[in-house]
Amino acid sequence: MRVVLGVTGGIAAYKAALLLRLFTEAGHEVTVVPTEAALRFVGAPTWEALSGGRVQTDVWSNITDVPHVRLGQEADLVVVAPATADLLAKAAHGLAGDLLTNVLLTARCPVVMAPAMHTEMWEHAATRANVATLRERGVTVVEPASGRLTGADTGPGRLPEPEVLLEAALAAAGAVVPEVPGTSLEGVRPGDLAGRRVLVTAGGTREALDPVRYLGNRSSGKQGIALARAAAERGAAVTLVVAHVEIPVPEDPSVEVVRVESARQLQDAVTARVGEHDVVVMAAAVADFRPATLATSKIKKAHGAGEEDSAPTIELVRNPDILAGIVADRAASPRPESPVIIGFAAETGDESGSVLEHGRAKLARKGCDALVVNEVGEGVTFGQDESTVHLLRPGHPEVVVGPADKGTVAHAILDLVHDVIADA
Ligand code: CTP
Repeated sequence: MRVVLGVTGGIAAYKAALLLRLFTEAGHEVTVVPTEAALRFVGAPTWEALSGGRVQTDVWSNITDVPHVRLGQEADLVVVAPATADLLAKAAHGLAGDLLTNVLLTARCPVVMAPAMHTEMWEHAATRANVATLRERGVTVVEPASGRLTGADTGPGRLPEPEVLLEAALAAAGAVVPEVPGTSLEGVRPGDLAGRRVLVTAGGTREALDPVRYLGNRSSGKQGIALARAAAERGAAVTLVVAHVEIPVPEDPSVEVVRVESARQLQDAVTARVGEHDVVVMAAAVADFRPATLATSKIKKAHGAGEEDSAPTIELVRNPDILAGIVADRAASPRPESPVIIGFAAETGDESGSVLEHGRAKLARKGCDALVVNEVGEGVTFGQDESTVHLLRPGHPEVVVGPADKGTVAHAILDLVHDVIADA
């Protein structure tokens, strides 16, 4: 593959030298295009020695070769690592003041940017807007890792390790990803979700009764977390809105984790972000009811005479149906960029119908693009490592997956997402 490695002026430029090495060792032909500022951190001799080619930063040298057009046109993959806030802003606005920004305008291949900067700069509204614009245009913007930054401070903004960047970049390009030991993205699939933003909800909500008690459910969150991992493996930028789960959430540069507890917090988190996503997968087990009142102090037993057997009555009220809400919002103002919405259901067959019949009825009622129906019953699905699901899509035959591990089920669900996007 012909790779253009853009390097911009951040302290993490030294990691790009290691990334370059990984690319060339994997057999790829790499042209390094640093910015002027990048050369203040790592000089041209390093890039030239490691890539075996000359480097230039402007469009005025080597004119007969027309590098500002040729490099972008011929590239199979463009990776910018580290990408500074300045580069993201220039790319989002189509500026073309140096060779790298010219390459970005002429490239028609997958483009991957790995931002690295201080947390304040990463979280600034201008940077957020530029990242959203780039993602909307299909650029894979890898989430920065959290940890020690240049000074004594810590937070999101670190450039992920070169091995992780290599895998994410090759996955975005749909390339064969070599086994790199010790990395978090093993067995990466072709990047068919590169440039897509996928929101997954996972886990079981907890509805507080008082400061120490809650109403909960038995969701382990394993399927939602497997979905977030699988979507990241396929090149998506993932937001994982996570309620109570029994396993660790992914520590992956492409997965942003948003923690919530109750159904209403989950609703706020989803509705605030739904407009920025191409796909929403509602795998969370959302409580349909919550206590009507939240006691501000612990509910105590009564100890008076004759009160030994007394117990409080808990009145419940309905929670909002979040899935139904986002489907209704989409129907009220449909736009080309409206997200694909996938719902989940837990069903047992009974005398009134089979799992499939109940699932089809729920799919019609919910109005989402597809429904993942879990077969539940004694010891089935909740917390188990294997499950059987029925994938339902209006006008399409049912697909049964399993019994299979949650990763396999997750990829089958994302194959379905891929089909829904392709048919849109
Ligand atoms: N859901 C939601 N908001 C709720 C309840 C559920 O968004 N208040 C979502 C879940 O994330 C899931 C789907 O809706 O994607 C499940 O729908 P639901 O009607 O609750 O199905 P079941 O849990 O199967 O319950 P029931 O059969 O009682 O309708």
